[in-house]
Amino acid sequence: MTKIVNSWNDFDPLKHVIVGKADFTVIPDEEPATSEKVPVDSEMRGMWGPRPTETVEKANEALDRLAKELENRGVKVDRPTPIQWNQAMMTPDFRVPSGQTQMPPRDILLTMGNEIMASANSFRCRYFEYLAYWPLMNQYFEEDPEFKWSQAPRPRLTDKSYKHNYYDEQITLEERLERTANLDFVTTEAEPMWDAADVLRLGKDLFIQHGLTTNRKAMEWFKRYYPEHRIHAVNFPGDPYPIHIDATFVPLRPGLIINNPERRLPEEQRKIFEANDWQIVDAAPPAHKEPPPLCYSSVWLSMNCLVLDHKNVIVEASEVHQLEQMEKLGMNPIPVDFRDAYAFGGGLHCATADVYREGDCEDYFS
Ligand code: NVA
Repeated sequence: MTKIVNSWNDFDPLKHVIVGKADFTVIPDEEPATSEKVPVDSEMRGMWGPRPTETVEKANEALDRLAKELENRGVKVDRPTPIQWNQAMMTPDFRVPSGQTQMPPRDILLTMGNEIMASANSFRCRYFEYLAYWPLMNQYFEEDPEFKWSQAPRPRLTDKSYKHNYYDEQITLEERLERTANLDFVTTEAEPMWDAADVLRLGKDLFIQHGLTTNRKAMEWFKRYYPEHRIHAVNFPGDPYPIHIDATFVPLRPGLIINNPERRLPEEQRKIFEANDWQIVDAAPPAHKEPPPLCYSSVWLSMNCLVLDHKNVIVEASEVHQLEQMEKLGMNPIPVDFRDAYAFGGGLHCATADVYREGDCEDYFS
């Protein structure tokens, strides 16, 4: 019997990771929480159904490339078991015409030490996504006697969980930004809802983005569930589509974090880092003007890198400015061609979930 699961942050030496798969990915139909995060001018608006086969194949090639690079560097890689998402799904509270994917495991799985917890996502189409990871969870459970296999309280996602008519085609970018600044999001406070990719783990401290996918009640839930940790709610008023923190605020090693210069990290939130001698550096500009076709994410996936240890970091191969900046910051950037996977739910960090990193739960902000 060995210890399989351990990870407290995103930068200690990575030994074991899950890399997502693109099979059967569907663009979901609109539902209360999703229209908010599809930009008005996106070609995806109003469109739903299985993604074209050749794009699925290319995404899987990119994901396999990442898996191979990791394995060549001695990191053990596991893959989820794809599910046929192109089928209607229902609970006693709702029915949706399809699921979505098992590509970004980072949205679903939160690793906290020897625990991996499936999150409480606010999209109905993602309600059953955790099932793609259950065979792996079961395997870790059998092999590691200390592994804590857990599941956050499942939200019901009834109509009470969303503000109806929150989204309006006419809404301007300025209005969206005003809403972000006023903490006015599409989800209500009816029940705790959160995506694992909104949680930035730094040992004893969790920085959790309050936005379109994670609400305030989730912060309160985290406080009670992890009483030994400090929970910080963070918000970036420069982000008109605030979901997932990993293209906004990305730690590279203890004491160093790259920050999205457009999303305006508030002074108040900066203080705790500066008071503890952390350096906050503006991330290099993205190399691309537009995300690839049918992509939910922004060009800032440029900073969505996968840190292997305090020196080595995987960066998307076409992101020339980010690669160059990594070197200037004393990191050793490893380019991996990964852009074909972006449309399936994000970049290199999104596409993975930690199973094992060396190291303990440190207190970086005492
Ligand atoms: N909202 C983020 C997603 C990051 C994975 C962005 O597109 O910038």
